[in-house]
Formats: sequence, structure tokens, C-alpha cells
Amino acid sequence: MHERKYDNLLGIKTIGKREWRGQAVHYSRYEATPYEALDRLFETYKIKKTDRVVDFGCGRGRVAFYIHNRFHVPVTGIEVHDITYDEALYNKMRYKKRARHIEAPIRFEYGLAEHYEVKPKDNIFYFFNPFSIKIFREVVGNILGSVWEHSRTVDIILYYPMPKYKKFLKHETPFELIDKVRIPGVSDKNDKFLIYRLV
Ligand SMILES: C[S@@+](CC[C@H](N)C(=O)[O-])C[C@H]1O[C@@H](n2cnc3c(N)ncnc32)[C@H](O)[C@@H]1O
Repeated sequence: MHERKYDNLLGIKTIGKREWRGQAVHYSRYEATPYEALDRLFETYKIKKTDRVVDFGCGRGRVAFYIHNRFHVPVTGIEVHDITYDEALYNKMRYKKRARHIEAPIRFEYGLAEHYEVKPKDNIFYFFNPFSIKIFREVVGNILGSVWEHSRTVDIILYYPMPKYKKFLKHETPFELIDKVRIPGVSDKNDKFLIYRLV
């Protein structure tokens, strides 16, 4: 109910799942972060006007639209499933009609997250288990390379964090865990956000 109501408010369609056909061992299926979880995250985690968000494996764009609509900041979504990407674009067309007053850009790029060139001002990176640890390593490597070239504070937000992601960030990167946001009333202990920061 909550899900449909929010989708209608934003003028988008993001409910449902989509599996990859065949042997896409490194890529996860489409499934959106629950709106309830996003509401809870942003009670605690504040986005500033100067922030720029990237959702790696954005699916139909739910997180991108939610953040853009709520915080009016530039958001980029990267998606490599062609049908899912087209759905994100269709959502954007419908969403823009309701969000004409928001000047910040919202963009969707078709392609592999690991090929995305991290922009010097991108500083918040969102992941809801989009791919294998192998690809996550590459993407985090690209983020670190960008920070090396253009020094800044950056955050990584993990939803429903995979143990391998956590282990990698803790032991093999300079990112520090700065916050955990749990979803009230949920018994699954993995159903939470972890926020990592590199200062
Ligand atoms: C679990 S969904 C998350 C959707 C969205 N981020 C959200 O939280 O609502 C993961 C998405 O990542 C996409 N994906 C998987 N591997 C990818 C890759 N290498 N590059 C870009 N997108 C990828 C999948 O097609 C899927 O749509």
C-alpha cells in the first residue's frame, strides 16, 4: 500500500522484481529499496544542497526519484538491464511533469556501473546489492581513484549489506563505518543501512 501510494505521488512505476535471464552470475535482480526504509534512512541521514548522488544499479529509478524529489540535488542512476533502463527513462518522463520546479538534474545512464566515470563532484554513492563483490571492488576502486584526483569527503550507503561488501570496505579500504540505520519493526537483522565515510 505504502509502496503504491509513493509511486503514485512521484508518478512512477517501480514495484516488482526482474530476474536476469541465463547466467548473469555477477549481476543481481531488480528489486527496489522499500520506501519505508528510505523514509527511515533520511530521518537520520541528511543530504545537503551541494551533494551529488549516484545510485549504482538504479533499476527503475526509485531511489533516484525519491532523493531528487525530497532534497532537490543532482542524482545519477546507472543501470545495465536494457528493459529496466527503458522503464527508468519512462518513469523520468512522467516524473518530470510533476517536478518541473526542481532545477537539479536527474539523469539515467545505460551501462555497467564499473564503467561509470565518477565525476569530481559525485560524493554520495548508493548500493542496494546490485552486483557481485568482484564488481563492487572495481566500483569502489573507481571512487577512490576519483577522490585521489579530486580530494573530497565521500559517503557510501549500503542497503541490506552483503557480508562480503562489509568485509571488503572494513579491511581493504580507508572507508569508515559512521552509522547504522535500522528499520523499525523488521526482524531481519540484515534489513538496515550502513553508512561509510571517507574524509
Ligand atoms: C537490487 S536492484 C536495486 C535498485 C535500486 N538501486 C533500488 O535500490 O531501488 C539492483 C539493480 O542493479 C542492476 N545491475 C546489476 N549489475 C549491474 C552493473 N554491473 N551495472 C549496472 N547495473 C547493474 C540490476 O539490473 C538491478 O536493476
